[in-house]
This record gives sequence, C-alpha cells and structure tokens, in this order.
Amino acid sequence: LHPVHRLFSCPGTVAADVKKEEQSSGIAETGSEDRTPKKRFSEVQKERREQAQRTVLIHCPNKISEKKFLKYLSQHGSINNHFFYESFGLYAVVEFCQKESVASLQNGTRTPSMGTEAAIPFRSRCFNLKLKNPSNQTSEQPCVSRSNQSPPSSKKLFELLCDAESIDDQLNTLLKEFQLTEENTKLRYFTCSLIEDIAAAYFPDCAVRPFGSSVNGFGKLGCDLDMFLDLDDIGKVKEHKTLGNFLVEFQVKNVPSERIATQKILSVIGECLDHFGPGCVGVQKILNARCPLVRFSHQASGFQCDLTTNNRIALKSSELLYIYGALDSRVRALVFSIRCWARAHSLTSSIPGAWITNFSLTMMVIFFLQRRSPPILPTLDYLKSLADAEDKCIIEGHNCTFVCDLNRIKPSGNTETLELLLKEFFEYFGNFAFNKNSINIRQGKEQNKPETSPLHIQNPFETSLNISKNVSQSQLQKFVDLARESAWILHQEGNDHPSPSNSQLWGLATLLLPSVAKNMSQAKRKRKKPASERVKNLLESIKSSSTENPTNTSGT
Ligand code: CTP
Ligand code: MG
Repeated sequence: LHPVHRLFSCPGTVAADVKKEEQSSGIAETGSEDRTPKKRFSEVQKERREQAQRTVLIHCPNKISEKKFLKYLSQHGSINNHFFYESFGLYAVVEFCQKESVASLQNGTRTPSMGTEAAIPFRSRCFNLKLKNPSNQTSEQPCVSRSNQSPPSSKKLFELLCDAESIDDQLNTLLKEFQLTEENTKLRYFTCSLIEDIAAAYFPDCAVRPFGSSVNGFGKLGCDLDMFLDLDDIGKVKEHKTLGNFLVEFQVKNVPSERIATQKILSVIGECLDHFGPGCVGVQKILNARCPLVRFSHQASGFQCDLTTNNRIALKSSELLYIYGALDSRVRALVFSIRCWARAHSLTSSIPGAWITNFSLTMMVIFFLQRRSPPILPTLDYLKSLADAEDKCIIEGHNCTFVCDLNRIKPSGNTETLELLLKEFFEYFGNFAFNKNSINIRQGKEQNKPETSPLHIQNPFETSLNISKNVSQSQLQKFVDLARESAWILHQEGNDHPSPSNSQLWGLATLLLPSVAKNMSQAKRKRKKPASERVKNLLESIKSSSTENPTNTSGT
C-alpha cells in the first residue's frame, strides 16, 4: 500500500510532505499510484457547510488563557475543533459538536450598549469576548498559537525555493506554501454561512455556497472568496402528498426577466450586508455587470467577497476543476507555479481588465496536460462518457454531465517530471497558433477559433462562450514573449548547470523574478560574453533586484 494521500480528502492539507515519503520509498512521483478513495466534491461541500453552521467566531483579548477560554465555552456544549488567528486583533474560530450550542451561546450574549452611538441588534455568530477582571487575568499568559492565513513573503519564498533539492521539489514547495490551509478553508465556508444567515432573514431555505478557487483546489492563500446565493431549493415542493383537485401556488411579485429578479434580490441583500452585517464593509453593488454581483470586504476574516446569485454552472465548473486537480498530484503543483509566475510578471492582476485570469491559466494547464503523450488528464468528453444516471446534470439547457466519483477515473500512466512539464508548458504556449486555434478542454484538441478574440478558451459548459474574451492582443503577446523567455531560461539553466547548493537563485526562483526575464532577454540579444560571465552578471543583478525591489508574489 502506498502512503496515505490526504490531499484530496481535505483540500487544505499538503502534497509535499507526502511527496517526500513517496520519493524516499522510491515511488515515481506521478501521483497516479494513489489509491486512497477520494471524496466527491458534493460530499466535501456538504460536510464543510454543516461544520460551518455549528461554528462561531470570537474576537478575543490579545492575552488569553486557551484552557480557560475553552472551558468557558464548553458550558454551551462540547467543542469539536478550534483555532486562533490574527487579523487586526486575535480571533478564535470555534466549531461546536452540536448546532444547538450556537443558540445557547447566543442566548447568553448581550448586545453592547454603545454610549453616543447606537447598535443594530442583529444576532450574528460573531462575538466579542471581554475579560471581567483584566488585571488579574492577563499577566503571564502564554501566547496562544495562531494559524497563519497569509501567503509567505517573497523573501521567505525565495529562500525556500533556493533550498529545494530539484525543480520538482521547488514546484511542490510553492504549492505547499501557497495552497489554502485547512483553517483557511474552514474560515471561507464559515464566512459564507454568516452571509447565509443574513440572506435567510428573507429566504429561509436559501444556501450561500462558495465556488471558484476557494473550493476547486487551485486557491492561493489571499485569493478572493466567490460565493453565490442558491435559491433553487426554495422553488421546489418538498413532498407532494396533498390529495384533491387543487394546486396551490405562492403569490409572488413578477418582474420582466431573470436578470431583473437577480438584480432586485442582490440589491436587497447588498443593503442588508451594508446596514447590519457585522464586519461587512465597502459594500459595492455591481448590478449592471454581465453577471450581477455584490462585492464587499469581510473584516474579521480578511476576505474580499464576491456574492452572485444562481450561479450553478460556475459551481459545476468548480467541481470539474476539483476533479482535475485531484486526479494527479502534478496538476496543482504546475497550476500554482504558473499562476505565481503570471502574477510575478504582472500578466494577471487583482483589478479586472484586458489581462489573462487565473481561471484561464488553469484551463490552459489542463489543456496542456490533456495534450501530453500519454495524456496526464482526460478530456471532459471522456469524463462525460463515464457518467452514470445520477451524474446527469442539465443547467439552464446546458449539459454539465460528467462523472462525479473520482475513484472511477483511471490514473494516467504518464511519468513525466514537473521540471519537464514546466519547460514544455512554456514551449507549447510560446509556439501555440493563438491566431487560428482555440483551447477546448472538452475535446482536448486544438480547434479552429469560432470568433476573432486574440485568445479563445471555450467555456466547458456554455460552449458558445469564450472565458478569455477580455484578453487583448498585447496582453496575449506579453504572455507569449514571457513563456518563450522562461522556456529559454530553463533550457539555459539545464545547460549551464547552476548548482542548487550555492544558495543563489535558480530554477523556478529565477522565473519568478520579473527583472530576470528582462536581463535574460538583453543577455540573449547581446550574447557577447562567455556563458559563465553571463550567469555571474545575471546572479549579481538578481541579488540587487531582490533586495531593492522584492517581487510581489502574494497577490491573486
Ligand atoms: N468563471 C467562469 N467564466 C469566467 C470567469 C469565471 O465560469 N469567464 C467561474 C469559474 O468557475 C471560476 C469562478 O467563476 O472559478 C470564479 O471566478 P474568478 O474569481 O475570476 O476565478 P477563480 O477561479 O476563483 O480564481 P482566483 O483565485 O483568481 O479568484
Ligand atoms: Mg475567485
């Protein structure tokens, strides 16, 4: 039996530790040998949503005795799990075993009297904990350990990358450092369930579900929190047992279109968040977008949130990415590195615009892995062919059917290393005929572009849509140029053999420095100096640029 691979049953846990075990036991590092049953996306979502509903968030004094704190809260019921984290103060996330404990805590909690200000008495699951006698409780408290919710600094990342043993090791290290932790994932589901409480004041049977990179396995610490208000269950009749000749319907307000209904609902929920959502600040209603949304910051968790409604197709595409990420351990390592590379070179941005998005980059990696020989990832059509009756899924007329049980998908026999795949990714897209071909993960084949956008990546379910319609020709060209330069750098490194042990930047670390690509391209143009001198100058320039102008790799 192979080492237990915890990665997929628990999205926050780490592949790299397991990788070390695999290496030491001499197992090829494809991840394809892994036989541990993996949970379905819907099971993970259901479990985490239920956990989140019996969880509370408590703002604590900085000095607190963990033992006394837990003892105090256990008056309301047993605690299943808890952790502390820092975000403008100390917070505790406490998950009770029973949902009733939350109500018990709420019943014993008062609304603060505010002096000159007034409080809106909304009883959420966020609390402030005060010490009754601060003077005799704060002295000599050991510091509680805090779970980290942020990505590593550039300095720390470069150190870790330079200490790695191989380029494969570097990619796995980057994944380990940037992927969402177990705690961060919990906090994301919890934040959605707080928003659900507010929306449920109007729509008692609604659900607020996270989607996108928070749940698809490709989220980096610090990424935004996409969530949608799911009202689907409200329309459904639970049990249709009533006899007789009559049918009863609710009287409802009719509006001219689905879009207007969405705008009205989001508008009201936006107002509620703004007016009585504790810690919901900077609420913006962006209702005229193609997909109307409410954007806000959730202060206590530190998440930038995007709330949409009826976005079931996006949830299905999150599920598809979750499956692709879980099928082979190389997928996430490669996607994370490409995302960090793109961010470091300002190919992606947190501001919407003509740039490539992380979602598009992920699709490009998946497509590339479908094109390997033998393929590392199956096509979407193949996943559809494995589907059984219960997997059938049609949303708004779009066929979103694919196999949901990951354990029924045969692992790939491809054993290529991450180093090779990284190099080949840059070469493949450095030479891709973007002017005539489209990227399509459904068929896993290059196809003629149906329209003239510079970059065409077919939406896997709404196949007439291009997910990268926003990308301009110049942004695409920048991507192509950087891909070529990065392929060249990796190729040169292979030839020049910089020693990993000399603590200089090498491998992936070199690729993540924007100045390096520039210097490399200049060096390439000049090509006058001997190779050894070029490398020496390059390393000098890296040293100065990394101290003067550290790269921001921590953005989304
Ligand atoms: N989405 C889509 N079509 C697009 C953009 C987004 O279907 N043109 C869906 C995808 O399911 C995507 C989700 O909306 O995962 C969220 O979009 P976004 O936040 O832009 O991407 P993420 O995958 O969440 O990546 P990031 O970490 O950059 O937020
Ligand atoms: Mg997102």
